[in-house]
Amino acid sequence: MKIASFLAEPGEIDKVVLLFSGGLDTSCMLKWIQEYYKCEVVTVTLDIGQTTKNFKEIEEKAYHLGAVKHYTFDAKEEFAENYCFSALKANALYEGEYPLSSSLSRPLIASKGVEVARKEGADAIAHGCSGKGNDQIRFTLTITALEPEMKVIAPVVEWNLSRDEEIEYAKKHEIPIPVDVDSPYSIDENLWGRSIECGLLEHPEAEPPEEVFAWTNPPEKAPDNPEYVEIEFESGVPIAVNGEKMSPAALISWLNEVGGLHGVGRIDHMEDRTVGIKSREVYECPASTILIAAHKDLEKLVLTKHELYFKEMVDREWAFLVYTGLWIEPLREKLESFVNTVNEEVK
Ligand code: ARG
Repeated sequence: MKIASFLAEPGEIDKVVLLFSGGLDTSCMLKWIQEYYKCEVVTVTLDIGQTTKNFKEIEEKAYHLGAVKHYTFDAKEEFAENYCFSALKANALYEGEYPLSSSLSRPLIASKGVEVARKEGADAIAHGCSGKGNDQIRFTLTITALEPEMKVIAPVVEWNLSRDEEIEYAKKHEIPIPVDVDSPYSIDENLWGRSIECGLLEHPEAEPPEEVFAWTNPPEKAPDNPEYVEIEFESGVPIAVNGEKMSPAALISWLNEVGGLHGVGRIDHMEDRTVGIKSREVYECPASTILIAAHKDLEKLVLTKHELYFKEMVDREWAFLVYTGLWIEPLREKLESFVNTVNEEVK
């Protein structure tokens, strides 16, 4: 028995759009939705700058597991310009530390899912988030804000399979098991950062083991000589590095490389999740850390004291709304109008 009206019952739906990462969870879901709901599944995958994904292989996997149609969107520039740079103009750091990398990606992924669902005449959208995190909330709020009649399916919340049972299920259905299946970590990546959760990290007293990091050098392996980077801003957003004009996504990727080499952007954060859980989270965010520091300093140079003090409150509220899944909330847009107005001076 479903308790919320947006959750889908078998028999109610004919076609589902699955937000498909190609990992074990969403691969099992692709099979499970076809079996349990007896319906067609269309899969959607976004390239938002994940460094370890092969989008051609993900497409092949989707068709192999029975998708009737697969969509891959190269959304890197859209993500960089409309999401990462909006966050940058608001110096967005949740609880003063986390640049919101995963949080920012969810409304974009969900809105592409809605776009495909409208085009394909699908009546539900499925995602692979657990019931303990923020991502399920972000997906559901964005989907139902854009399309109030759309049903949402969250199999991982419902099927309650342990990791071993899931692997059994995968074997039975000839779903490829990833090589890192024994890894205890849950990892999410995009241009604005890499999030690492679970495993030993759930013990706040333990130092994050070096194996959780993939984008950043530890300080002792970083080069001995510092590197100077000159970033040119226009209306609050970076347009060139060291005199070279770059697209938003290219500029962020470049700074991730350079910052990572020098060990910039490791964040170890005691986080308050929207669902009320406290959770220790680790991030690697070289580009966002560098850009926010530079942008903040430039604001200090060009804005008045009164603008700066007031903007701090606006920035914090903007970050809070986005963290809690309220990208589609009129207040977010209105706060952004203020942020954009003062950022006209930031150059
Ligand atoms: N705690 C972060 C947030 O809520 C990161 C979530 C990362 N998701 C993941 N599946 N590992 O934004």
